Amino acid sequence: MRTVVIWGGRPLQGKVKCDGAKNAALPIMVGAILAQDVSKISNIPRLADVDTMVALLRAVGAKVRLDGDEVEIEPAERLSKEAPYDLVRRMRASFLIMGPLLVRCREASVPLPGGCAIGQRPVDLHLKGFQAMGAEISIDRGYVHARARKLKGAGIYLDVPSVGATENIMMAATLADGETIIENAAQEPEVVDLANFLNSMGAEVRGAGTSRIRISGVKELRGTKYAIIPDRIEAATYLVAGAITRGKVLVENVIPTHLKSVIAKLQECGCNVLEGAKSIEIQLGTRPAPANVKTLPYPGFPTDVQAPFMSLCSISTGTSIISETVFENRFGHAEELRRMGAKIRIEGPNAVVEGVPQLTGARVQASDLRAGAALCLAGLSAEGVTEVTGMEHVERGYASFLTKLRGLGASISVIDPGINRASGFLNTT
Ligand code: UD1
Repeated sequence: MRTVVIWGGRPLQGKVKCDGAKNAALPIMVGAILAQDVSKISNIPRLADVDTMVALLRAVGAKVRLDGDEVEIEPAERLSKEAPYDLVRRMRASFLIMGPLLVRCREASVPLPGGCAIGQRPVDLHLKGFQAMGAEISIDRGYVHARARKLKGAGIYLDVPSVGATENIMMAATLADGETIIENAAQEPEVVDLANFLNSMGAEVRGAGTSRIRISGVKELRGTKYAIIPDRIEAATYLVAGAITRGKVLVENVIPTHLKSVIAKLQECGCNVLEGAKSIEIQLGTRPAPANVKTLPYPGFPTDVQAPFMSLCSISTGTSIISETVFENRFGHAEELRRMGAKIRIEGPNAVVEGVPQLTGARVQASDLRAGAALCLAGLSAEGVTEVTGMEHVERGYASFLTKLRGLGASISVIDPGINRASGFLNTT
């Protein structure tokens, strides 16, 4: 487990540039295997999850060259229909390979992605979509097997607007016979980015960004050149970092309209937020005011920003209620924040956060990606030294996290696992 030590209490100042969106890069990289020839995709964030996706695409037979922030993906004429367990287990987004493999190989075997630290996260809606398009589905020894001579367009209603199900079905539908209509589709910007990418390969996807997406199947798709959108969750994380340390941070390479719900809540907390064409600046000189937040599918407040926002509320001047409606078990960070002096009570899907004047440094554990980021932010604002273990979760989703924070003046180091704790490393401030 990777651990960092953070010396808190310094206001962050300066500029930070966002990378490409992880949640757009992963589906788009998978989508590239729908084409006949090579695609070049830029603005790819350098992350552990991207490396896992590269390994998965190679495992099914694609040629992949990753160079800086660019990836070239050349799909093999004959792809292997089976995704390896080890890679799918490592990253849930690997399940997105099911739709492209099914429509290209006429069959696909992909392991169930399994449980996850933030909730059950089933894939039933992905499978219902493929079934509606004529696929036969069976589950055997932990693998989902799907088979269809030719997928056919269908009307598909999603019980909840699942991002992954919308993307998986959308990809399969691009090469199916006839028209597919996804109702109650996810409207996230990453879904729109995938649709734009598919259209640049010759697909006919209309309505992405609304709750009704129409896909007319085409005979074939060609390779393309495409640049991924900036990461709105990364941007939100650095905005909260600026606010929680009472600093002034300019976040560059963002699309401010993707962050409307987050900006509104930061303003409610008393932050000064200045939107540029491709940047957002935040400043806060006092303790934040409390704010009630409910996570919702886009354009609502993103569940991926819930944990960082809870860190901010934990030092506010009053009581905030944070309701998590997207995932059923996404408060793992609350208990760790309590170790740092936060007053948080969990009541079902709600966290009641009574602000305290200041958090204090402690040893804490990241249970998942966003929880880990939230704990680092709490550590940056806390008095004294915080040690966050489980940083490998954070590195799955934030490119150059420590370098970017240090660029803003944070005092943060990786603990060398060889160091003897008994020597009192934490007292070396
Ligand atoms: C994606 C994001 C993740 C984000 C989430 C919600 C990627 C790689 N990950 O995850 O960062 O937190 O959207 O914005 O893009 N559900 C079902 N059945 C299904 C599928 C989903 O019941 O077949 C439920 C889930 O349990 C969850 C809700 O739908 O409660 C939303 O999940 P979904 O939108 O599918 O999330 P992911 O695509 O996994």
